[in-house]
Amino acid sequence: MKLVVAISGASGVELGIKFIQHLPQTIEVHLITTDHALTVNHFENHNNITIHNNSNIAASIASGSFQVDATVVIPCSMNTLAKIACGIADNLVTRVAAVALKEQKKLLLAPREMPYSAIALENMLKLSRLHVIIAPPVMGYYAQSSTIEEMERFVIGKWYDLLGINNDLYRRWQ
Ligand SMILES: Cc1cc2nc3c(=O)[nH]c(=O)nc-3n(C[C@H](O)[C@H](O)[C@H](O)COP(=O)(O)O)c2cc1C
Repeated sequence: MKLVVAISGASGVELGIKFIQHLPQTIEVHLITTDHALTVNHFENHNNITIHNNSNIAASIASGSFQVDATVVIPCSMNTLAKIACGIADNLVTRVAAVALKEQKKLLLAPREMPYSAIALENMLKLSRLHVIIAPPVMGYYAQSSTIEEMERFVIGKWYDLLGINNDLYRRWQ
């Protein structure tokens, strides 16, 4: 599976990093960040990862012909959300989202803001109607998490579920 992971400038960058850290090695990861200088050090436990420069519009993943299976933006800022909803593709993150839309591939956004403005909600509704998965980092209390790490594992496990990635990161409702 080829997976593009984009990390934009919203609170919760750690969630994007941990999302990658829990991924199986069999998944080929392509990482882009909008404004965070992430280094390979964060991903020592994942050796199947390529880090792309957000300004490199000529990167492999900028083309639909590269055949990415799924693209996620975790966390997704309201700025990046708005650009994706309008079809703006002015950097590699927004371009890969535009490619996922045009190629009708899986696109998962984890919008992080609180509260949401009507503009953000409209953008999410517009994208949801285009089959984009809108999956914000929201806790589920039924998983009986008692630490921040367990809450994060719950959210990441739910994202994996949505992408069809097997996991036992959280306690499922029985
Ligand atoms: C400390 C800090 C926290 C922020 N948290 C959020 C956030 O949770 N959600 C959001 O939409 N924007 C947040 N922002 C604002 C975005 O970083 C800003 O809109 C930026 O232009 C987003 O750019 P990008 O979409 O290219 O990453 C935050 C900014 C700062 C400095």
